Amino acid sequence: MSKKLYIKTYGCQMNVYDSVRMADCLAPLGYQSSDTPEDADLVILNTCHIREKAEDKVYSDLGRIRAEKQRKAANGEKMLIAVGGCVGQAEGAEIIKRAPYVDMVLGPQSYHQLPEMVTRAIRDGGGVVELDFPTVQKFDLLPEASSSQGVSAFLSVQEGCDKFCSFCVVPYTRGAEYSRPMAAIEKEARQMVAQGTMEITLLGQNVNAYHGEDEQANVSSLSDVIARLAKIDGLERIRYTTSHPRDMSDDLIAIHGSEPKLMPFLHLPVQSGSDNVLKRMNRKHNAEFYLDIIARLRKSRTDIAFSSDFIVGFPGESDKDFEDTMKLVEQVQYAQAYSFKYSPRPGTPAATDDQQVPEEVKDERLQRLQALIRHQQTVFNKSTVGKMMTALLDRDGKHEGQLLGKTPYMQSVHVQGNEGSRGQLTEVRITEGFMNSVSGEITGTQPHLRKAN
Ligand code: SAH
Ligand code: SF4
Ligand code: F3S
Repeated sequence: MSKKLYIKTYGCQMNVYDSVRMADCLAPLGYQSSDTPEDADLVILNTCHIREKAEDKVYSDLGRIRAEKQRKAANGEKMLIAVGGCVGQAEGAEIIKRAPYVDMVLGPQSYHQLPEMVTRAIRDGGGVVELDFPTVQKFDLLPEASSSQGVSAFLSVQEGCDKFCSFCVVPYTRGAEYSRPMAAIEKEARQMVAQGTMEITLLGQNVNAYHGEDEQANVSSLSDVIARLAKIDGLERIRYTTSHPRDMSDDLIAIHGSEPKLMPFLHLPVQSGSDNVLKRMNRKHNAEFYLDIIARLRKSRTDIAFSSDFIVGFPGESDKDFEDTMKLVEQVQYAQAYSFKYSPRPGTPAATDDQQVPEEVKDERLQRLQALIRHQQTVFNKSTVGKMMTALLDRDGKHEGQLLGKTPYMQSVHVQGNEGSRGQLTEVRITEGFMNSVSGEITGTQPHLRKAN
């Protein structure tokens, strides 16, 4: 008999990938994914611990899920609740203390154990916690990927982080850096393409630190992975995220210029434009080093567009430090960027720094930075008006016949669709540019007409 599984995903793309793999793990037990928690037999919150807000969201959602669990119980039905992901790893059994209706807690490295955990939770009535970083990699223990992610898919190639930026929980929640072997990555990519995937985004918290082994036990770099996957017929687009500036190696910069399947867009977080703050953040690079990499990438691929993450109000950030960030943004001219107020995270060195920046100052800086970023996004989107480009139209829009997708530069594009353009790479002409998207028109040719899944 089929059982209903609802997974809610918070945080980064690695969690999106993990949620798909969790569903793969539970499919043999008869669990089928559903889009809503109503009537679910098992609810998994795949959580994010990166900022305080992300964590608060989990607890407020848990309250709502609890009401559904109680409603089911009143009908004599059972609902299991699991908290997975980075909050699970960071807080462990504390979650069950605070929310006793939670049956299972697990971390990002232990979800291959879900089937066994579910059996134990049913038998013992909850209280199951699995947080070990296993000696055997979870990737080796996961079943083969069975559910298709559609035309655009994520593929984790690297996990964990050894960088220990002083603000960040990731090295604690995801553990040490690990790179999957090349053969496993290629096999998974081929399966995805066979199921209709045309675009693969290679994932890792520090994806360009990739150093997995190939079939001859030689250490490969991320550019080797890209070159290998580019040979797969039917795979049309390759992206990777998230990169650290320190790991932008010469070969990786070069392949941006030589591999047409590698999209001309890179998310390369800098966090701050101030050398003083970068040092306090333990980023191990300065602003000049970052700007040099940007220049070299632009030389390698002249039309490349950039995005970044910024933290404002990091402990010790002066007005001058913040102006340095504004200056760096002016120099780079981003196509898009994300910015956050510094959020002290328990257990990280910066959280106990005695030079915390007042909330009002953080607010004001964030507003100024975001205004500049919004301006640059608009300028970038308008600069593409009139250009022809291929869009991967993977979703329906709000209006009748409207399709949404992504341009090579990661812009959200909306077009009025025609018969058969859904799920296709379609040639479009950009007609208008806005702050967060562009609109385009289909010009008739569909360069890569394939049957989508
Ligand atoms: N591995 C990626 C980032 C992972 S977290 C990298 O190295 O860039 C995603 C983003 O969240 C970070 O780039 C940072 O901008 C932001 N972030 C991380 N910890 C934060 C904190 N304590 N407060 C505010 N923003 C934070
Ligand atoms: Fe966090 Fe820094 Fe590692 Fe990125 S590189 S995951 S910001 S510790
Ligand atoms: Fe969040 Fe964990 Fe990703 S803390 S950003 S879900 S690695």
